[in-house]
Amino acid sequence: MTKDSAERNVNRSTTPENSAFHTYISGDWADAPETVAAARAQVPFCAKRRAELSAAFTGHTLVFPAGPMLVRSYDTYFPYRAHSAFTYFSGWGSDTVPDSVLVLTPNGQNHDATVYYRFPAGRGTEEFYSDADIGEFWIGPRPTPASVSTELEVTTRSLADLDAIIDSADDTWVIIREADASLTERIDVARGVGEHRDDELAQFQSEQRLVKDEFEIAEIRHAVAATAMGFDDVLASLPDVVAHRRGERLIEGTFNRRARAEGNQMGYETIAAAGHHACTLHWIRNDGPVRDGDLVLMDAGVEVESLYTADITRTFPVNGRYSDTQRLVYDAVLEAADAAFAVVKPGIIFREVHAAAMAVIARHVSEWGFLPVSLDESLADKGQHHRRYMVHGTSHHLGLDVHDCPQARKEFYKDGIVREGMVFTIEPGLYFQADDLTVPERFRGIGVRIEDNIVVTEAGAENLSSGIPRTADAVEAWVQGRR
Ligand code: GLY
Ligand code: MN
Ligand code: MN
Repeated sequence: MTKDSAERNVNRSTTPENSAFHTYISGDWADAPETVAAARAQVPFCAKRRAELSAAFTGHTLVFPAGPMLVRSYDTYFPYRAHSAFTYFSGWGSDTVPDSVLVLTPNGQNHDATVYYRFPAGRGTEEFYSDADIGEFWIGPRPTPASVSTELEVTTRSLADLDAIIDSADDTWVIIREADASLTERIDVARGVGEHRDDELAQFQSEQRLVKDEFEIAEIRHAVAATAMGFDDVLASLPDVVAHRRGERLIEGTFNRRARAEGNQMGYETIAAAGHHACTLHWIRNDGPVRDGDLVLMDAGVEVESLYTADITRTFPVNGRYSDTQRLVYDAVLEAADAAFAVVKPGIIFREVHAAAMAVIARHVSEWGFLPVSLDESLADKGQHHRRYMVHGTSHHLGLDVHDCPQARKEFYKDGIVREGMVFTIEPGLYFQADDLTVPERFRGIGVRIEDNIVVTEAGAENLSSGIPRTADAVEAWVQGRR
């Protein structure tokens, strides 16, 4: 138990501290069964990713912390989730032991990979039964070093061994700074004030992750499949949803139940937005009712055990039938999504996807008479009036993080060339706020987004989420068939 958590737990310490108790609880346990481990499917991919890093950081010690458990309040914690860069290079996903650290140590032109983690303490230790934060009696067994070495094909060392080398860190050490504040501080102190390449490492791994390998694409497919199940569950629960005063919460709970059952958790907080709440782009309060006649905008994604996530939005009519105005808006958004998808192929510039969607969105709101300027003036850089109705971008990369690769340079992301193996979203929308005086009353309070997950192929693109109904007719049939 850290000093910090010991202070927070002072009134909860109910474990006896006398030696008779210690002797009694430490003995008479059966031997742990031998675990038969095998290398995980991601092992060769992780090795290749580390080799690419090695070439760019020859002679440097590279540190990837998984990060600590985060305190929710006093002595309770948020569910643990390893830092994405740690998982990308180690292959350790949802079952990562908190505080683990991957260290790549230079060995000539290459690096050796070691995962430092908290080994099982043993049943003869006080930690085992008295430490509510990390004791295995409290939170479950930790894997043996032999099983972690076999499953990840890395050397394993005890966290205590890391302590011993941290203080020898010099300016050849590089760390992912945001993953573990206290480890970063210790390395900063040990390195002194000299130059270091921390920002470059963050950028390098972000750019490396822009193109997904075969393992990653397969995992995102699993995430999309599990997410599809969650959407089906929600549609089947609509009678209960409509009957409850906080139907949005029921939608959230139903989706999240599936996320926990099929995967690790949600890749981000589920958005369950009925009626005008759909116009609040990140509506996660989800405390409103869901009424007959409403559209529900649901934006949700399952994160699977390897920590890859989907990010999918569908906007469906609760009663199984879009009104004329709802359908008009829906079809405009669908047309924008299809136009964006149609331009995707290797060699285009990423922002062309957004431009293709925006051309359709702008044309519709212009034709509907909502713009104070001509279509051309709105589309010009110094216009952009149509963006009042869709302030967000059309696409972002997707992978271990829902907004993946954020530290990539603009020339590789927004202004970058689209390459085979990239995975991103296409998610145009139209949002007419309930109090927007620039649109006729019948449009006010309607918000629609359609979000799919795309993988770039050799000649074009594949929509990974096309199996979840997308057209207005298909969505209506889906709702009618499930409820
Ligand atoms: N769910 C957040 C987004 O679509 O980017
Ligand atoms: Mn989304
Ligand atoms: Mn998204």
